[in-house]
Amino acid sequence: MYSVERVPIPDDAGRILKKNIRGTIYVYYVYDRKYLPEKKYNLYKSTTIGKVCEDDPNMMYPNPNYRKFYPEKKKSNLIYADNAATTKLDQDAFEAMVPYLTDEFGNASQPYAFGVRARKALDEARGVIAECIHAKPEEIFFSSGGTESDNWALKGIALNDYDERAIITSNIEHHAVLNACKAIEMLEHPVAYVYADEKGIVTARELKKIITDRTLMVSVMFANNEIGSIQPIEDLAKIAHENGAIFHTDAVQAVGHVPIDVEKMDIDMLSASGHKFNGPKGIGFLYVKDGIDLKPWNHGGGQEKGRRAGTENVASIVGMATALKKNCDQIKKNSSYLLKLEDELLRILQSEGLDFIRNGAKKHIPGNISLSFAWSDGEMLLHRLDLMGICVSTGSACDSKNTQVSHVLEAIKVPEKYRTGTIRVSLSKDNTSEDVQKIAQALKKILG
Ligand SMILES: Cc1ncc(COP(=O)(O)O)c(C=O)c1O
Repeated sequence: MYSVERVPIPDDAGRILKKNIRGTIYVYYVYDRKYLPEKKYNLYKSTTIGKVCEDDPNMMYPNPNYRKFYPEKKKSNLIYADNAATTKLDQDAFEAMVPYLTDEFGNASQPYAFGVRARKALDEARGVIAECIHAKPEEIFFSSGGTESDNWALKGIALNDYDERAIITSNIEHHAVLNACKAIEMLEHPVAYVYADEKGIVTARELKKIITDRTLMVSVMFANNEIGSIQPIEDLAKIAHENGAIFHTDAVQAVGHVPIDVEKMDIDMLSASGHKFNGPKGIGFLYVKDGIDLKPWNHGGGQEKGRRAGTENVASIVGMATALKKNCDQIKKNSSYLLKLEDELLRILQSEGLDFIRNGAKKHIPGNISLSFAWSDGEMLLHRLDLMGICVSTGSACDSKNTQVSHVLEAIKVPEKYRTGTIRVSLSKDNTSEDVQKIAQALKKILG
């Protein structure tokens, strides 16, 4: 595993952290000091950079994998503006994950010290995540992402209710919720839909029209993925509770981007996904308020207090917690930066005389900009921008013959003239003013 060629140990390496026993010889490993445990959460673990030579404490056999963690950064011309689809893994999150993908690979369910260390990392991550949304650590359950959390919340409640009380959801939800609801309906469990207004807002007034004392659960997304509109979550939760229903929110687009306080907002269940806030893909969590009787959906071992079976993905959980903490600490700063970029993009498009509208509500996820261009085609725009090295997404689903407008654009009734020409530009803190200018110029070139 270690190179045979000796190199001097760097001055800034730590070497106090760990030792292994090989026969009777103690082998000291040297660590990059950058990874020494962070005071509070202890998420930043060490990474082995080499093994100290037995006969010379100033020399080491380097770990050849170590350099792989720091690939040479290639300068890229790509402008990535599809951050609502997925985000770049944060470097600190990546580095926090590395030990759990290499040396610290223990199973968190095992009682020996090696397993207990993995368990400790899980518990710390749970605490960090809970703090970020003002929950208790024991209310956070890890899952494989937003889709699983949504399915679990909906099916775990609905399919264990033998009284056939209704689920209410909105017509602008992500398919993780809509298709889970379809599956629930197929099992002859009632589902009702509340309609969003033209800004993509589900109002308390509309919910009041259809909620009854036979409503089991209300599930309305925190923020819409296509147009960014943020829902009046506190009002909706209040109405749900007044009618004796549980309130769930798919907060996949909101967590890490806007402040969330589940206690103050009185949310019973909340879904989140790591890769939407610079964490890794394939990991997420479901917040389940103390006292909510959510049945397991994944049956198997006793992980996650018997509620979600399956060996825990320690590395990804640690990465997700690290990324979330970092994002939450910077929400204010990131939001004002992104709102400035948004303004700049809209200003240039207007000054270039392009005929477009911006979809969604004034209160929205910073950086999520849904634009509809007159008499245009979203798919064509996406592909033309792609050829120019710009990644955005479209608000329409296309087959070879027809461009179909998405259910969200349909729901908010985008006027005929703008219906098919929609793209979503979703910016992150990594985007720059130069990126925005290039996007605007590219659109001008295509449409002007
Ligand atoms: C609002 C919303 N819910 C759920 C999901 C699904 O999350 P995941 O990709 O983690 O399964 C997404 C992903 O785009 C989303 O935007």
